Formats: sequence, C-alpha cells, structure tokens
Amino acid sequence: MSAVTFPPGFLWGAATAALQIEGAAMADGRGPSQWDTFCAQHPECIHERATPAIACDHYHRWSEDVAWMARLGHNAYRCSISWSRLLPEGTGPLNEPGVRFYAQLFAALRAARITPLVTLYHWDLPQPLADAGGWENPATLAAFVEYAKTCHTLYGHHVTDWVTINEAAWTTLQGYVTGLHPPNRRSDYRAAMQVATHFLIAHARVAAALHARQPEARVGMAMNLSPVYPTTDNDNDRQAAAIADGFFNRWFLEPLLLGRFPADVVALLEKHGLQPTIPAADRVLLAAPSLDFAGVNYYYPHHVSAAADATEYHLNTSGRRDEACKFAIAGLFRFVANPRGRYTEWAWEVHPEGLTELCCRIHDLAPTLPIYVTENGIGRQEELIDGTVDDTERIEFVRAHLVALHRAIAAGANVRGYFMWSLLDNFSWINGFKKRYGFLFVDRQTQNRYAKRSAWWFRDVIRHNGFINTL
Ligand code: BG6
Repeated sequence: MSAVTFPPGFLWGAATAALQIEGAAMADGRGPSQWDTFCAQHPECIHERATPAIACDHYHRWSEDVAWMARLGHNAYRCSISWSRLLPEGTGPLNEPGVRFYAQLFAALRAARITPLVTLYHWDLPQPLADAGGWENPATLAAFVEYAKTCHTLYGHHVTDWVTINEAAWTTLQGYVTGLHPPNRRSDYRAAMQVATHFLIAHARVAAALHARQPEARVGMAMNLSPVYPTTDNDNDRQAAAIADGFFNRWFLEPLLLGRFPADVVALLEKHGLQPTIPAADRVLLAAPSLDFAGVNYYYPHHVSAAADATEYHLNTSGRRDEACKFAIAGLFRFVANPRGRYTEWAWEVHPEGLTELCCRIHDLAPTLPIYVTENGIGRQEELIDGTVDDTERIEFVRAHLVALHRAIAAGANVRGYFMWSLLDNFSWINGFKKRYGFLFVDRQTQNRYAKRSAWWFRDVIRHNGFINTL
C-alpha cells in the first residue's frame, strides 16, 4: 500500500467540447460548423446516423451541469467555446445570446470555485470559413486570432488559462489523411502538413496576441500524444517508429517546446516536395517556445512495424472488440495491435505507463513547464441500473493512469492537473452516442443526468488530493 498524493493546488475536473455537449445547434442565432454540415450531409459516416443537434442539451442545462461539478467536488473544468455560437460567420458581428451563454457559464464556474480551462478550437470550424478553404486558407488563421481576441475581451476577467487548439495532430490526420472527419480529404499529405503547420502558427499568433494584452494569461495547446514503440528491435521497425513519432508527436512538441522543427521530418518532407509554406514573420514566432503549459491528451500508445505494403485506414466505431483499428501508410509504417495488450471495446489499448513516459518526455524537453492532462478516459457501452452505472472498469482505468501520472511527478515532471474525458456521455464524433465517456450517464430520451460509480470515487480522490494505492 502506498499513498498517491498530488501536489498542493492540483486541478481536478473533467473535460468537454462544445459541439459534443451543447446541442441547441440552430438555437439563438448559432451558425453551422463543419461538423453540423458533415453530419447532416453524410449521416452514413456516423454510427447510427447520430447528430450533435441536441447532444446533451448543455446549452439549456448548463447550470445543472455546473451544480453537478460542484457536487462532485471538481475544482476545475475544461470546456470549449463554440466559435459558431459566438461568431456565426466566423468573422463579423457577434451573436449576443452566444456571448451571454458563455458569460453566464464562466461566472457560474467562478462562483462555484471551479477554475475554467477554455479551449478556443475543438474542431467545430464555422461553416463559412470551411467553405472558404478551412485551415488551408491563411485567412482562417487571421480569423482565428480575431476570434481569440474577442474571447479574451469578453471573458478574460473570468478565464486565465486558454487552450488554443485541441489535438492539432488528430484533427489534421482525420481531416486530410483518413478522410473520416471533415473536410474528409483522403491521403492529401500536402494539405495535411500545411494544416498541421497552420495550427502551430495559429497557436503562436494567439499566444503572442493574448500575452500582449495580458501578460499573466496562460496559453497552452492540448496535444494528442502517444508513445510510439517499434514492434521489433530491427532497424526497419525502429526507423518506421521514429518516423511515426516524428509526424504524430515531434512535429508539435519540438516547435512548441523548443522552437524548432524536427530535422528528420523536415528532410523527409523536402525529399517528397511536401514542405509547408511558412511566412517569414511566423518563422520568427515559431523559433521561440510558445507554451505556458502543455496539455496532454492521452488515450493509447502506437506499436509500429515497417511492413506497410498498402495504405489503409479504419477506426472502430461500433464498439465490437473484434473490429480492429487500422492505420498504415504504404512504404512508411503500419500500426499493429499489441499481442500482449489489453484493449477497450473500441479496440484502444489500455497502457497507463504511456502517461508516465509522455509527461517525463515533456519534462526532459522543458524541465519546468507546467503540464495538465487535458484528456484521459475510456469509452464504454453502459446501461443505467437502479439509477447508476457500475463502471468499475473506468475507476480502474483512471486509478491506473493517476498512479502513472504520480510516477511522472515523482520523476520531476511539473504536472498541475488532471481532466478526465468526460463530464457527460456525449456526441463521440463518428461513434455517435454509443460510446459513453462520462462521469455522468446521460439518458438520451430525457436528458437526465445520473452519477456513475466513478463520479463518487473521483470525488473522494479530490477530497484527499489522492488515494491509497492498494495494488
Ligand atoms: C479526443 C478528443 O480525441 O478524444 C475528444 O479531443 C474525443 O473530443 C475523445 O471525444 C475520445 O475520442 P472519441 O472519438 O472516442 O470520442
């Protein structure tokens, strides 16, 4: 038995994203985002043809949800602002009901002593900007900076911690390589590298703009990071793993933490004529680290083999354990299943040690940089029985990841908070609503919320700022 105690002032809470919980998609002047359009135009791409139109109806139930957070002892909450609710055109006039919605939400969080950590972009690009070329178009970056400044003007008195972009790597990958998310482009590697780099530029510009307005504002990014392991010790597999690590992790970690791009990835892009365009002024911005904190979204690791004859992409959206996720780029690398691994119903490997490694890796690159786990959690198929859900599997998942996180802290990583994904069972993108992630079970018919066992367990963890590890 050992005490797993976290540093004083540790932030404990859950994470959500606007599109996944708010609903009220057409209400009070909100404009459509690329996800509303995609779900409406391609229902066959979403499990059971679900849409985010109602989601968890958080737009109307936000005060109940804040009350739940308070009841569950949370002292922090990561959420996102819907750009389309604030600025329906992406630029131009403000939508007053949207302005009021977030003002009320942030004020209520502060009143409940819950620190908001606010994401500016969690994939829901306003449709007019998507129509004009989305994140490939430099005009979107300019619009994003204006939107960020607007958010700061409106809410800077309540919000000090800003996450510019959620999972630049994942949204680029699914939008431009697998084509599973909007804008649904497949194997467009040129666009992917440009967009991934535009996200870095957008982040750096917003960080500079917010710091110029308020030096004590803290600006970070939520990065989807995964340890990448070669499947064997042979040189080919090791090299393939290094390339995958370069694209998925280092393309983001190195500019953000060290102010440089990874030389091996740059050389590979040059070899294939895929270098992104970076304006001179942005090169200067990117040459300096630009994070006040690193946000780590961690779900699972990658195991990589060099044996990649064919390009192949598939994500398990059904929750059937035998439906494997596939990702391979011919001639570069293939992700393979770990024969010794434990997997969730959606075929995501459960590997808590990865969280220790990622936080220690950030600590090695930037020793004092504060780190928040901005997402970590497990999707399950769940049923409400006697008003609750016995989600022991989630408790074990979170407990194991907190033990792993504590190891990173003991090794010197400056970890300051943990946000479980998610507060509510929500719209899980192409998985629809079958994949449940919440501390709170949401009844899809009534929208009533019910605390799962994990919610009460987590409340006790927060009360003690840790727990006794009996394993
Ligand atoms: C992250 C996203 O990729 O993982 C969340 O930031 C998302 O928005 C979460 O919901 C889990 O992924 P999924 O696809 O299972 O919902």
